[in-house]
Amino acid sequence: MADLGAPTDPRLLAGIGGGEDAGVYRFNDETALIQTVDFFTPIVDDPYLFGRIAAANALSDVYAMGGKPLLAMNLVAFPSKKLDLAILKEILRGGLDTLNEAGALLVGGHSIEDDEIKYGLSLTGTVHPNQVLLNSGAQPGDQLLLTKPIGTGILATAIKGGLAGDDTEKMIGRVMAYLNRQAAQALAGSGAHACTDITGFGLIGHLYEMAAASGVAIELRAAAVPLLPEVLHFAAMGIIPEGAHNNRCHYRRFVNCALPGENDPLEIVMYDPQTSGGLLIAAAPKDIAAIAARLSVGKYPFDFGIIGEVLPAPPGRISMV
Ligand code: CO
Ligand code: CO
Repeated sequence: MADLGAPTDPRLLAGIGGGEDAGVYRFNDETALIQTVDFFTPIVDDPYLFGRIAAANALSDVYAMGGKPLLAMNLVAFPSKKLDLAILKEILRGGLDTLNEAGALLVGGHSIEDDEIKYGLSLTGTVHPNQVLLNSGAQPGDQLLLTKPIGTGILATAIKGGLAGDDTEKMIGRVMAYLNRQAAQALAGSGAHACTDITGFGLIGHLYEMAAASGVAIELRAAAVPLLPEVLHFAAMGIIPEGAHNNRCHYRRFVNCALPGENDPLEIVMYDPQTSGGLLIAAAPKDIAAIAARLSVGKYPFDFGIIGEVLPAPPGRISMV
């Protein structure tokens, strides 16, 4: 879209460009509209679980803007001549269950015949115009909190290669299907400066987007990043999805890596593409402590961690220590 000229309007609080998770449009002093859409091919074999993950992933971009999801529409591509429609029904049931859990209403959708299954949703949400959390709001002195462990890309690759079993599959399914709602609630009213969710660009990619949009540098403490079990083990064996290599190829030019070993497997894990990953939150240290405390009290089921901090310069640089 870069060459096509993005529309501008004073009521547009977030639009194309700037790497935001959703579009945000101000109606009045109390309400802004959030719009986002996301869909992909199956990432797990269980159609119901795939539906849940796709919905959690689409909802995540509303939560990342500080918003509350209201309405949803299904986007479906399905080979109805090759596959049983019961499979599609399970995908849609998974999506609907997750929408119900989020308190969002499914109001329609669109389906087409296609050779390959694709499913996702468009989401509409609202947020107070003064409480929109942009990628571009990170300030020097902020700390960074990550609300889910990473490594789903590497573990999915290990499962595909027959190196990890049912337990691992169930575990990553649960992580990817888990809504970022609880994290968003802990974040609400916290005074956080910036937020995004970790998805296909991997942790480093999303850190870079935040650093570049905010005109700041970020110091990432790789050892403090919460990891899913066995991720380092598989990374050390070279079980790395192509997406992680692609992310590294694209983003490493923005990174100074001071990790000890030349081939430290932790380094590539930082580039692992995530599906429906956690929220990355930038806020003043006392506010980060308050958000973390709220997550702990709320019996949050996953590891979360303070993974780094925001430095004044150079803009758009990541140092990995
Ligand atoms: Co996003
Ligand atoms: Co998205």
